[in-house]
Amino acid sequence: MTEAAAPKEHTFRAGPAAMPGLPYFGGIVRMKKDPIGYLAEASGRGPVVRLGRLGRRSFYQVNDPDLVRSVMTAPRADVGMTRTSDVLGILFGESVFTMQDEPWRKRRDELQPAFRTSNLPELFGSAAGEIARTVAQFEPVAEAGGSVDCSAALLDLLQRMIVRMMFGVAVPETAAQLSRAFDHGLEYRQRRRWSLAGLPLWCPTPANRKFHDGVARLNASIVEIIEDHRSNPPERAGLLKMLMECRDGTTGLGWTDEELLAEVKTTFVAGWLTTATAAVWLFDLLGRHPGITARVVDELDALPDDGPLTYDDLHRLTYVENTILEAMRLFPPGWLLSRRVRRPFALGDLYLRRNAVLLVSPYALHRDPAHWKDPERFDPDRFRDSTHGEAHKAAFLPFGYGPRVCIGRGVALMELKMIVATLLRRFRFTLADRAPARLQPVSFLRRAEPLILGIAPR
Ligand code: HEM
Repeated sequence: MTEAAAPKEHTFRAGPAAMPGLPYFGGIVRMKKDPIGYLAEASGRGPVVRLGRLGRRSFYQVNDPDLVRSVMTAPRADVGMTRTSDVLGILFGESVFTMQDEPWRKRRDELQPAFRTSNLPELFGSAAGEIARTVAQFEPVAEAGGSVDCSAALLDLLQRMIVRMMFGVAVPETAAQLSRAFDHGLEYRQRRRWSLAGLPLWCPTPANRKFHDGVARLNASIVEIIEDHRSNPPERAGLLKMLMECRDGTTGLGWTDEELLAEVKTTFVAGWLTTATAAVWLFDLLGRHPGITARVVDELDALPDDGPLTYDDLHRLTYVENTILEAMRLFPPGWLLSRRVRRPFALGDLYLRRNAVLLVSPYALHRDPAHWKDPERFDPDRFRDSTHGEAHKAAFLPFGYGPRVCIGRGVALMELKMIVATLLRRFRFTLADRAPARLQPVSFLRRAEPLILGIAPR
């Protein structure tokens, strides 16, 4: 612990602090209007803060890193996932993201080989061509001294990268269809999330029917790709081929189409929108901090060869990596993690009842002055030492914490390094509008307005 103050002591003898609000319901309904402001306010009130009630569920925010660690590593019988039963469960199907208990453990073990580091060079090769396409799109604009909508360009680039890494080939129409279906599904989840309104998903309301029809169409188009993949395997091994090689831990047989479908959908969304969101914030911050950008460029100029970036070059980009981590500290795409108490559970000396929902906000934890010195300052050097300079391991969790930590961390860091390195070697970007960016905390922490950057050749 290099820079931060000592962790706070916590005790609940007088019961947890509570957010003000209506009698019985508390203030949780404010989450719908201004979740970031509400969570930030709650983060200063104590190690665990009672936010209020929605229906039968009481909501708590966990702010103390020791208690965050207890929640995120609690036995599965005590604390489980909330996403198993909501819109995400139907959208993704039974995947490593939505399952829990032994089926989750088994699936995670089966999936792990596809994400091992030794597969990254293969995925690098698939993704590099897509960045080259973005460079080609930017070149004429840069020559003319124009500007680019980086939000749209990065969203498009990261979609093409994950599709290539997944399928080994481009499937533009299906990819566009996938993103439309997911946009609708995630938006539907957002609408229902902090609300008491909304009948259960099995009720045939027009909104529920529209959602289920969209999921059915999405599934049909992915099954088509899987079948096509079986009959015409692409030259380059993508994640789908690696998933097809996964073996059921019990029977030793390959996965069923249903299992493959769920994992393909999960990887597509988990690997696309999160990384695109992180990339937009990274370019926003680089635009605001020319001194830091200059250090990034110095590191790129020091690479041994000025030809196309190689996989080995990535290991030399330590300042780039620290800059990425620092951008994810300030703007973690996964801004809110949640867990459900499955049987009465002691958190510190607070006893929680079954069905209580525990919220952990990486956004609030990453900006808590109790754990980070001068938390609003963008300073990649915080991550200079090998412990990543974290105040407390559980006070920095852009990729989650504990057994459910992000399985794609290595892929995401590789993609982000590739993008920064390739684009900043070719172009100079400038941010004209320096007004603070507005946050749009939906499923991911998006930038509300598009990021427009001036662009010129280097
Ligand atoms: C910057 C990019 C990314 C960020 C910020 C991110 C963040 C996260 C976080 C916070 C979790 C834990 C959620 C929780 O505990 O409730 C998670 C889980 C997960 N992520 Fe990522 N992720 C990123 C990229 C990726 C990529 C590229 C992939 C796949 C190619 C991926 C696949 C997954 C999966 C499958 C899980 C669920 C793991 C489990 O529950 O066992 N993510 N991610």
